[in-house]
Amino acid sequence: MKQYIQQLLSNCVNNLKDKGLLEADIQPKIIVDNTKDRSHGDFATNLAMQLSKAMKKNPRDVAALIIEQLPNDEKIQKIEIAGPGFINFYQNASNLGAQVKKLATEANLGIKNTDNPQTIVVDYSSPNVAKEMAVHHIRSTVIGDSVVRVLEFLGNKVIRANHIGDWGTQFGMLIAYLEKAEQENANDLKVSDLEAFYREAKKLYDEDAVFAEKARGYVVKLQSGDQYCYQMWQKLVKMTMDLNQQIYDRLNVSLTDKDVMGESLYNDMLPKIVEDLKNKKLAVENQGAMVVYLDEFRGKDGNPMGVIVQKSDGGYLYTTTDIACAKYRVDVLHANRILCFADSRQHSHLLQAWQIARLAGYVPDTVSLEHESFGMMLGKDGKPFKTRTGGTVKLTDLIDEAEIRAQKLFENRETDFTPEEKKKVIHEVAVGAIKYADLSKNRTTDYIFDWDNMLSFDGNTSPYLQYAYTRICSIFRKAGDCAELGDVTLIHENEVNLASKLIQFEETVKNVAEKGMPHILCNYLYELSGLFMKFYETCPINKSDVDEQTKASRLTVCRATAAVLKQGLNLLGINVLEKM
Ligand code: ARG
Repeated sequence: MKQYIQQLLSNCVNNLKDKGLLEADIQPKIIVDNTKDRSHGDFATNLAMQLSKAMKKNPRDVAALIIEQLPNDEKIQKIEIAGPGFINFYQNASNLGAQVKKLATEANLGIKNTDNPQTIVVDYSSPNVAKEMAVHHIRSTVIGDSVVRVLEFLGNKVIRANHIGDWGTQFGMLIAYLEKAEQENANDLKVSDLEAFYREAKKLYDEDAVFAEKARGYVVKLQSGDQYCYQMWQKLVKMTMDLNQQIYDRLNVSLTDKDVMGESLYNDMLPKIVEDLKNKKLAVENQGAMVVYLDEFRGKDGNPMGVIVQKSDGGYLYTTTDIACAKYRVDVLHANRILCFADSRQHSHLLQAWQIARLAGYVPDTVSLEHESFGMMLGKDGKPFKTRTGGTVKLTDLIDEAEIRAQKLFENRETDFTPEEKKKVIHEVAVGAIKYADLSKNRTTDYIFDWDNMLSFDGNTSPYLQYAYTRICSIFRKAGDCAELGDVTLIHENEVNLASKLIQFEETVKNVAEKGMPHILCNYLYELSGLFMKFYETCPINKSDVDEQTKASRLTVCRATAAVLKQGLNLLGINVLEKM
């Protein structure tokens, strides 16, 4: 509807030009917004204020002229001038009703695939081998996965890239330790605690000279393609990713082993990249190392910042890998857009790598590179979220605890669930709660992780939204077989308000796709649920004195709300429940 009004206004601007009221070279930016308060109509534009200077008239007079040019349109009920010269549009309720019916009845909620689908590489989750996923990985995993779902929903080709940390000098030590552990366990090694595994390996490396010597030898061997070391390395990767896959599955995250594109993938490219940077006079030698000086990044002394792409011992760096990785995503994956979900501390690293990739001509201007950065997860004390003893919180433990806490919520609740059903409900509520807590905050800032808030049935939480959905399910259960959907006639104010919100779903989702910010969708669903509750309180459906037509209309509104809630939560990676 917004686009529709935009088109009407754009025609109107042309008319004003034809009539000589506006100079031909003036190109206003036509913006149509949703009104904050529906007593001012549904949409508003500041076009008149923009044109007032060029037309040498006061904005209200310009607004009047614009309105004069607008055709009578069945979709629009009323147009008004407001305040200093805003133009407010009230949409026609029957048109609004028809759009709500579309949401309720059409496949994909009537949302068409985007006209120009893109190939979008989304780099997210990206844990490190032989390390437990830490809290910042839940942020990247959960936010990235939601954006992936949104981009796919709109018809784009999305390539999930799990950029795992699977390369580096630490692998010599890890291989040597794996070898030792396998020997001691007669090849029946089960590693469930990667933290301990890494710690022990490091301890031996630091304390045992023979072990350290062997480890250093293995690094060299691994890098020169030695079969044995390569196989041991593969085992380490598999061991880690099997454990991580369990977490992805529990969290309903869509990543699989097919999406792993770790740092090692780019390893063969690195010598050529450095050679090429040298030939292009981008990289120069400094004390044996190869360095790219970037004018765009300056150090404290005001001099261009030097980014090392190869160390003096010949080793490559995290940045070199990300330069190669950007090139690969353009050349091999044909990406039009690359999104990288990594925490804000990696910002300058990524910008530097990407700047070098652009200068070297690996990434054309037409391909956008976007760091979707996020802040830290903090404890209630405002300090980084840690275990009681100050260690990193393991993701598995976090999910376990969420389930225990969710279980408590249901202890005193009367339900007719079988034990199996109950387990499922508790699981979905628990997982929804931790994911939503992360998703609902503007990702750019730090946020405070608070169990009590996230598991509450009140407020902007997943349990609240899941509960709103079950309310609608129960309306349909009550309506039973006679639950027929009809045309939507919007009578009550609360009904109109709900409908206006419902039809904003598509633009909300598009906004998330553009900005990579799922909290926009969370806020929308929260507001929608609030409006639904108001509607539900004031607009009876299953009462005996409600006539058939009104009932059928309201059931359609309910169905549309349920469809939007279900799809919306699904795009956040959260499952709905029929009963709670
Ligand atoms: N492995 C990194 C970490 O654990 C995140 C990688 C982000 N992606 C990238 N292309 N650098 O923090």
